[in-house]
Amino acid sequence: MPRHLPVTGSTRVVGIIGDPIAHSRSPAMHNAAFAALGLDWVYVPLPVRAADVGAAVAAVRALSLAGINVTVPHKEAVLPHLDKLTPLARRVGAVNTIINRDGRLIGDNTDVHGFAMTLRQQRLRLRGRTALVIGAGGAARAVLAAVSDAGVSRIIIANRTAARAATLARRVRGPRRQVVSLAALADPAVLADVALVVNTTSLGLHAGDFPKIAAAATPISCLFVDLLYGRDTAFLRMARSARRRACDGGEMLLHQGARAFTLWTGRRAPLSVMRTVLRSQKNG
Ligand code: ATR
Repeated sequence: MPRHLPVTGSTRVVGIIGDPIAHSRSPAMHNAAFAALGLDWVYVPLPVRAADVGAAVAAVRALSLAGINVTVPHKEAVLPHLDKLTPLARRVGAVNTIINRDGRLIGDNTDVHGFAMTLRQQRLRLRGRTALVIGAGGAARAVLAAVSDAGVSRIIIANRTAARAATLARRVRGPRRQVVSLAALADPAVLADVALVVNTTSLGLHAGDFPKIAAAATPISCLFVDLLYGRDTAFLRMARSARRRACDGGEMLLHQGARAFTLWTGRRAPLSVMRTVLRSQKNG
């Protein structure tokens, strides 16, 4: 395990709000990064229920925290409680990083960068191609922004609740948009031209509970990404059994964290230290 610096009277505090939060790998990742750079900072998990989101954000100001990360299910709920949003956070409609600048709380979204880095690592060029996003929550919003920026010409959103997917589709500017049901994922015609399939839901943690996907109908170069991290999910198994490339959300987790680290500390994040910690926790 990495060595942590002692907490002192001048230690800067950051953390992560969410529910549940105990599974989060962000505290280990950030604390190792602080220790590696000798920074007198600490990152703590802060479980917050939905009813308390406003009070929790106000506490960032009251307690002079340097900032916080925001995770499921609060990424959209924090917006009205912030003083300012970056243009990207406003466009995405979700915040995963809050920066406290002298009592002014600024909401940003580093998930978009995290997903863009996943595409880069996988050398996937999306210009003029089709991306299929499963889910319509905060994570899906960030993925849609990243694939739009990568130049896709068509986006398909598959979600249990059609109205939620339609709302999300309306936010996307540029590419053609299509909303389908989860059941439609079994239709080879829906998957035929898809270059990227992303699961942004928590479905598939348990065996057999993922809707069937006609993965073999995709082009052979199609990439499947499950934003869940460190698990062998039904989604990934389906992709692999169709002999398609598949990866989890590890790279997104790393790079969203690295960008948040820099926004808070002004320092370049020690990526290799952070990656090593994530990998060591993978099966923990
Ligand atoms: P996040 O911020 O991680 O995206 P979220 O906003 O709670 O989390 O969104 C969760 C996504 O998973 C949604 O698309 C949700 O579908 P609905 O919009 O229909 O609620 C999807 N999801 C969660 N549990 C599901 C289930 N049991 N079956 C189908 N979809 C599910």
